[in-house]
Amino acid sequence: MLTNKTVVLGITGSIAAYKIANVASRLIKLHADVHVIMTENACNFINPITFETLTGHKCLVDTFDRNFEFNVEHVSLAKKADIFLVAPATANIIGKMANGIADDMLSTTLLAAKCPVLVAPAMNTNMYTNPVVQNNLCRLDDFGIKVIEPATGMLACRDTGAGKLPDEDVLIEHILKEIAYPHDLSKKRILITAGPTREAIDPVRFITNHSTGKMGYAIARIAMLRGADVTLISGPVSIDPPMFCDIINVTSAEDMYNAVMANASHSDIIIKAAAVADYRPSTVAAEKIKKSDADSCIELERTKDILGELGKNKKEGQIICGFSMETENLIENSRAKLIKKNADMIAANSLKQEGAGFGTDTNVLTLITENSCEELDMMSKEKAAEKLLDKIMTL
Ligand SMILES: Cc1cc2nc3c(=O)[nH]c(=O)nc-3n(C[C@H](O)[C@H](O)[C@H](O)COP(=O)(O)O)c2cc1C
Repeated sequence: MLTNKTVVLGITGSIAAYKIANVASRLIKLHADVHVIMTENACNFINPITFETLTGHKCLVDTFDRNFEFNVEHVSLAKKADIFLVAPATANIIGKMANGIADDMLSTTLLAAKCPVLVAPAMNTNMYTNPVVQNNLCRLDDFGIKVIEPATGMLACRDTGAGKLPDEDVLIEHILKEIAYPHDLSKKRILITAGPTREAIDPVRFITNHSTGKMGYAIARIAMLRGADVTLISGPVSIDPPMFCDIINVTSAEDMYNAVMANASHSDIIIKAAAVADYRPSTVAAEKIKKSDADSCIELERTKDILGELGKNKKEGQIICGFSMETENLIENSRAKLIKKNADMIAANSLKQEGAGFGTDTNVLTLITENSCEELDMMSKEKAAEKLLDKIMTL
């Protein structure tokens, strides 16, 4: 995801400095070219050799160090950077950045940087909530520097409160959001449904299906990384929600229908990737079950047709994409669905194909529109999400 991207990590004198070794390692696995600048004080917490070994580059500490190829290193690195993350950021570096102080390698390079700069404060709660630090953080925000909110929890000093360096996943996702993809979906409002629904039979049992939400969540994450404003309506799943998306959790098909209808009119693109349970116990059956008077065979009724309803109420310029899961006649049945539901695209997957459908990390999609039918190879659900969004952008 970060091929040909240069990430500069600025590390300062906080106990959390050791955590950045994992961040550097993860970025390298994402194929980024990672450079590290440490303050003198950061070197008390973790040795620069750790970062030199991980990144394959000299870890810069001293502005006046002459032991490297000749170029003005703070300027050349600032020019090369696609993104700059200062993490952990001490109260001291935040104060320097807010006031244009350039008295060491890190603060000097930061002043020369033109790329997006992210700052992840990490410090004792009393330091973090100190009005001077808060004022400096506001100034950074005014200068267009993105401040990553610290986590709340038990800190190294045993105090509990805000000031903890966020998990490495959070730091990485902030970097990916800035530079992993061109922001070709910025200003697009995308509504995505994902996961299964549950239709209660009684307080204990329910009707559902095998959907894990992986495909819908992958679409939401990639759309978010491409700059879209994403609302994800999710049935019950056990995977982590993508960051920076509005998440609406629902249980039944009725809940999902209501949530979709409440959000549909202000969405530019709607992707229904949820596997909504088609049936639920009928009102009569539900009453009987409540009175413990159910027949041996429970009468079912159809749940609401979310895709059909979206198609009927499609707004001018809105794009609607549904999914289909077929065991046979994949193309014919999906094309019929496209027309019947007034959708713009159906992403079809065959339940018979290995590596496709529920639960797997891969999928084999066929993207069907009015004029085209494109069968994709087997690929990760994230890659498939990318292709699906690419296709939607052509409609
Ligand atoms: C054990 C220890 C832990 C520290 N942790 C933090 C911290 O998490 N955040 C912070 O702002 N300062 C922390 N400090 C204080 C900074 O190291 C100190 O303000 C220093 O001047 C920061 O320098 P730098 O910003 O150039 O790295 C800590 C100091 C010590 C001795």
